[in-house]
Amino acid sequence: LPLPVHPAWGKGLGKDFFSWHLWRHLPQGNDVLWGDAAGTAACMQRMIQDWKWYGVDIVIIDVAMLPYFTARCDAAAECLERAKTPGDSKGLWLEIEVEIEPEKNTQLSGLYYSGSMYCSQMEAEGFRRFTYFLDRPDVMAKFTSVRLEADEKTCPILLSNGNRTDAGKLEGGRHFAVWSDPFAKPSYLFAVVAGDLASITDKFTTKSGRDVHLEIFAAKEDKDQLWHAMRSLQRSMKWDEDRFGLEYDLDIYNIVAVKDFNMGAMENKSLNVFNTSLTLAREDTATDDDYERIEGVIGHEYFHNWTGNRVTCRDWFQLTLKEGLTVYRDQEFSADMGSRARKRIEDVRILRAAQFPEDSSPMAHPIRPEKYAAIDNFYTATVYNKGAEVIRMYETLLGRDGFRKGMDLCFMEVLRPRGLAARSELEALWRKDSKDKKDREDDEHDKDANGRDLKQFENWYLQAGTPTLTAKDSWDAEKGTYTLTLKQKVPDTPGQTDKKPMHIPVKVGLLSPESGKEILGDTVLELTEESQTFELKPSEAPKEKPVPSLLRGFSAPVNLEYDYNDTSLSLLAGFDTDAFNRWEATQRLGTKAVLDALAAEDLESFRPDATFMDAMRNTLADRATEDLSLLAYSLILPAESTLMQIATPPIDPTKLHNARNHVRNVIAKELDAEIRERYAEVTPKDDEPYVVDGPSASKRRLRNVLLGYLSTSGDAAAAELCGKHFTTAKGMTDKLAAFSCLTGVPDSPEAKAAVEKFLADAKGDANVIDKWFASQARADVDDLLPRVRKLMEHPEFSLKNPNRLRSLVSVFLTTPQFHAPDGSGYDFALEMIPKVDALNPQVSARMANMAFRIWRRLDEKRQEMILERLGKLMEVVRPVVLVIFGCFRVIPVT
Ligand code: ARG
Ligand code: ZN
Repeated sequence: LPLPVHPAWGKGLGKDFFSWHLWRHLPQGNDVLWGDAAGTAACMQRMIQDWKWYGVDIVIIDVAMLPYFTARCDAAAECLERAKTPGDSKGLWLEIEVEIEPEKNTQLSGLYYSGSMYCSQMEAEGFRRFTYFLDRPDVMAKFTSVRLEADEKTCPILLSNGNRTDAGKLEGGRHFAVWSDPFAKPSYLFAVVAGDLASITDKFTTKSGRDVHLEIFAAKEDKDQLWHAMRSLQRSMKWDEDRFGLEYDLDIYNIVAVKDFNMGAMENKSLNVFNTSLTLAREDTATDDDYERIEGVIGHEYFHNWTGNRVTCRDWFQLTLKEGLTVYRDQEFSADMGSRARKRIEDVRILRAAQFPEDSSPMAHPIRPEKYAAIDNFYTATVYNKGAEVIRMYETLLGRDGFRKGMDLCFMEVLRPRGLAARSELEALWRKDSKDKKDREDDEHDKDANGRDLKQFENWYLQAGTPTLTAKDSWDAEKGTYTLTLKQKVPDTPGQTDKKPMHIPVKVGLLSPESGKEILGDTVLELTEESQTFELKPSEAPKEKPVPSLLRGFSAPVNLEYDYNDTSLSLLAGFDTDAFNRWEATQRLGTKAVLDALAAEDLESFRPDATFMDAMRNTLADRATEDLSLLAYSLILPAESTLMQIATPPIDPTKLHNARNHVRNVIAKELDAEIRERYAEVTPKDDEPYVVDGPSASKRRLRNVLLGYLSTSGDAAAAELCGKHFTTAKGMTDKLAAFSCLTGVPDSPEAKAAVEKFLADAKGDANVIDKWFASQARADVDDLLPRVRKLMEHPEFSLKNPNRLRSLVSVFLTTPQFHAPDGSGYDFALEMIPKVDALNPQVSARMANMAFRIWRRLDEKRQEMILERLGKLMEVVRPVVLVIFGCFRVIPVT
């Protein structure tokens, strides 16, 4: 569509917004251009006046805004007259009858059929696939009298949002239920579910005494796997009251677990819909990680009730306002339920493995994007996880109480009266008083609830790319002054160059180089310029320069560059009071070891530095650290996807994989005795029960990391050990860990037996079968692709179920084998993506992004191979999908 630019567009008329707005809807086959007046009044007014010029046939206006237009536009005045027709006190009535076929809805957006139920997914733009509507988040409506009618036998359960106000039997074996939600909401929060489901119930009494009926539904065979979700929900409800003073506002809270779901879960008001993979848990079906993820996501969707539902987004550009904030809240919840240090490490690992690659790819975008081709593509690690880091920085800058003050203000004064949050409100989140419009003009407006100026902080919302933070220091032993110079650089990203400096909170401490004792505790430095120098006075003045513990707790989502020597790193790894930085030091040592191996001329004879080996040895010998997960994470080398961001391009991923494996092998060989000793120590006694709780999970985590090292040799003894670990496993965590190791030696008798046993034990449980596929799809073997192709022929495989598809195909796309030098992995992607796309474009777009976004960092040969495949992909994929594949448009094909 060549977009017309109207000559009348003047200053401040929101030209970009409007052209985006037109363009966004027309390619999707809508004949009608939706629009209400809020925020776009000027555009709408002009459009109504000049509608013929735009070639638009029908303009639908929010009735409440009609008076605004009538003063300015004849067509609108006419409308209003009609709306005032005597006898029709409610104004205009529009009755729409639609016919849809949920059984054929393979996109899983709108109303669809999955296994034993009909269910809906309306976010972001599914409602328009369900019925005609002003399907935008700023159009808030009360959905009352939602009447569901169905066959009583196949659909005994009929659910929607709010309270059930009526129900009864009808003729011909049918029945009905009527639901009313007292809260106004945008269409993306609407939900319906109908099916033959089992459920468990319990209750929660809020702090002001409201009894809330809690019910979790699933397919009948899964009923006994719902209690962990129920307990997680109760803990979430309590936590939000304690930490944020936020209480549930209805009498019912329903959750439905569904097998076919594009994403993780959805926060529909009082009727959450969850992917079964994030709901169902039993010791023999779910790992410790699954248990933790379920608790986190149950929390996430519950917390959306305030940050997302009661306070919703004015438009989809504001997505991070609900998602970043809610991820931050679920991270905090999990930290409070388990171990804070461990949770922080886990979250940063995810950020580095998933968001950093995105931020350095053609898909790089600010957490608040300024344009998009398809909003469903913007449910990204950047919007979610970097968004959460940005919220976390507010907390670092303001302190926990200051942060809470801002949240309270935001709910009470800024957002709640309208219930819509937008950029201006967002910026006001921590500001003094935005209720008063006059205030917006003067300087005071830039001060937050704590009297702070956070104007520059907005750059985090505007600029994409992971900033690099460079630190240099010096030490004046006589004066006892430590001088730290911090420099920042925000990299260029597609469409964005010459960026402004960010407001970066840098939490630091100092350790004595002699004793490792902390001589300066947590201090937050605020870097706002391109370069700034800070002077710090430690409590003691050692002869040599103190060892800085920089960016404690990962206080900002940046890449820190500081010339640490190995001795300082091992001192930090052993003595830092900041648990995150203790771990970080081990990761820096590990990164160095792998990158050295990568650069080595003869990999086979390469040995990492002794300091690194000593640090690993010390971790294995550490019996003082109580949280064994911390030791486990210190023993794991940085992920390949993380190393891909650190190594200097062009990178050969196969070589990187071999280098990392080599370092693992050296550790396994040289520290064999230590690893075995510790492994035996954390191996449960025969009669020890399998318990799912924090300490037991940490113990298993350590044991399974150790098993990984013990299996690296791939010889018969290793297979035997893994086989024993497998057969003696009492729960899924241990069983899966052993199974994964065995997939690396697929021809061993132990592995062959395990492949059969694992599947037989699953007894048809879909989540377990997904694990069976996923472990084999990520096996570290040379002939992985033929194995994956063979698995695709297995009767349990299906392209239509997103979980199953992801467990085999998407998992393969993340392995080093995907980058096989002969291009066979890329061919496989080229073959699969259009097939999936024909069924479900949301899933295919994600696959394409995940597979190819890394291309710029690869070596020339691989770049060429990928570009060639992308060209072919563009030919075979429908034009509409090219819009969804927005990521490819920024790739320069020269
Ligand atoms: N709002 C959901 C959550 O994060 C995600 C739903 C996104 N779905 C989609 N098709 N884009 O909790
Ligand atoms: Zn969310």
